[in-house]
Amino acid sequence: SSSSPATPPSASPPPSSYFVGKRDDIVKARRVTMFVNGRDILVVYHQGVFHAMDMRCYHSGGPLENGDIEEFNGRLCIVCPWHKYKITLAEGEALYQAVDPAQKPPKPQWLSKGVKQRIHTVSDINGDIFVTFNNIPGSIESDFYQTEKFRATLGKT
Ligand code: FES
Repeated sequence: SSSSPATPPSASPPPSSYFVGKRDDIVKARRVTMFVNGRDILVVYHQGVFHAMDMRCYHSGGPLENGDIEEFNGRLCIVCPWHKYKITLAEGEALYQAVDPAQKPPKPQWLSKGVKQRIHTVSDINGDIFVTFNNIPGSIESDFYQTEKFRATLGKT
């Protein structure tokens, strides 16, 4: 499986990480969203593992905190409530089904559009949960929904 195991507890938080809550509280809530150091993030607790990602869907800014979590092709995905795009929890890859018309009979196959959603790292330090931003250089599509330009459009009718 490609899901990452829970980070083992260590003595001190990793550098450039941000406290997002107590383990017990997040486990109970299962999902929390917060604005941390200029970024809206979603932290999810699912099947014993914490995941963190940009809160708004890379496709059109949908609220991933309201998405169902389901397995597709053996990979856990959050399904955006707006247009049902599927994003792997572990990597932020966008999965889709395609049919090769040359195949008889045609059988849908799961393919990846690559990493579209920025996934962050979660650490459990003695019951305190920290998120370390993924600073992979270059733009990932979900970055757009973290910009001032995008925020300026919120709340406007
Ligand atoms: Fe998420 Fe369209 S906004 S699928």
